[in-house]
Amino acid sequence: MTERLIPVHQPLVLVVDDQRANRELLEAHLDELGYEVVQAADGIEALEAVAAREPDLILLDVDMPRLDGIAVCQRLKAHPVRRLIPIVILTASNDRDMRLRGIAAGADDYLSKPFDARELLVRTKVLLRDRFLNTRLDATEGVLFALARAVEARDRYTIYHAERVGRYSEAIGTAHGLDQNDATLLYEGGVLHDLGKIAIPDAILLKPGPLTEDEFAVMKTHSIEGERICLSLRSVTHYLPIIRHHHERVDGGGYPDHLLGTTIPLGARIAAIADAWDAMVSDRPYRRGLQREEALRRLHANAGKQWDAALIEIFIQLLDDGLDHRVASSHLAVSA
Ligand SMILES: [Fe+2]
Ligand SMILES: [Fe+2]
Repeated sequence: MTERLIPVHQPLVLVVDDQRANRELLEAHLDELGYEVVQAADGIEALEAVAAREPDLILLDVDMPRLDGIAVCQRLKAHPVRRLIPIVILTASNDRDMRLRGIAAGADDYLSKPFDARELLVRTKVLLRDRFLNTRLDATEGVLFALARAVEARDRYTIYHAERVGRYSEAIGTAHGLDQNDATLLYEGGVLHDLGKIAIPDAILLKPGPLTEDEFAVMKTHSIEGERICLSLRSVTHYLPIIRHHHERVDGGGYPDHLLGTTIPLGARIAAIADAWDAMVSDRPYRRGLQREEALRRLHANAGKQWDAALIEIFIQLLDDGLDHRVASSHLAVSA
């Protein structure tokens, strides 16, 4: 047999139906298509099977004792990871209402009984292809986050800096009225903001003293380098504005593009505040962190020059409410 880079993975399909005959029929079809099959006789068994071993696809009957298919679908689609498992609702061919309920519960497709072998083949193939693309996208994101942690690990002075920038950014975004999705994006963008520092040589990144002008010019390339690393990855396009523009200033004096005011993307304006605050109050190789009062004074003094004044107001309010103490204790909890 030829060696392969990635072991061939036989897709695992979970068949959920309270009628034994239906399960056996589907299993026979799926066997022929080369899938591995696990069976469950009701909703509770289905959830147990998913918890024991995550399937690549679920064929799900609706009317079942104990827990019906709609409830199973809703639960799985509310789960942060399991929501990516494609679910096909099994319905009687004329039951339009049931189909709609399935789709409303988050099902990806439906299949009519009695089953048609060709239809089963086509639908499962399409969904499984999407499933594998999704899991690979997920993996790409995971690699980037690992890189961001690697950047921190090179420099003990910035350990947890990215994590804290993420948490501050998320809090500012939420207080600014953004929804949960955007807040999560801000957190992740914050974690990734300095990813480009992976391209900065140790002699500059770890220098135990102020940088020369030339060295600073190299250091400044980290925002474009970060963007370059992520540019070809579709799953991270949303973070690009944060990565590229987190060193812009609202007075146009920042880098790399000298953007002015609200032409700086919102995420970057938020991350800039989070980043600067954390840098000010943390120790660096060549200086101690500032006292909280002094850092607050600088926030006030540079609102409208370095940072968006309205966002600074929000951030100062959050600090008054103890945000920095909460962020500091949360990353201690993460590291414990
Ligand atoms: Fe940076
Ligand atoms: Fe930073």
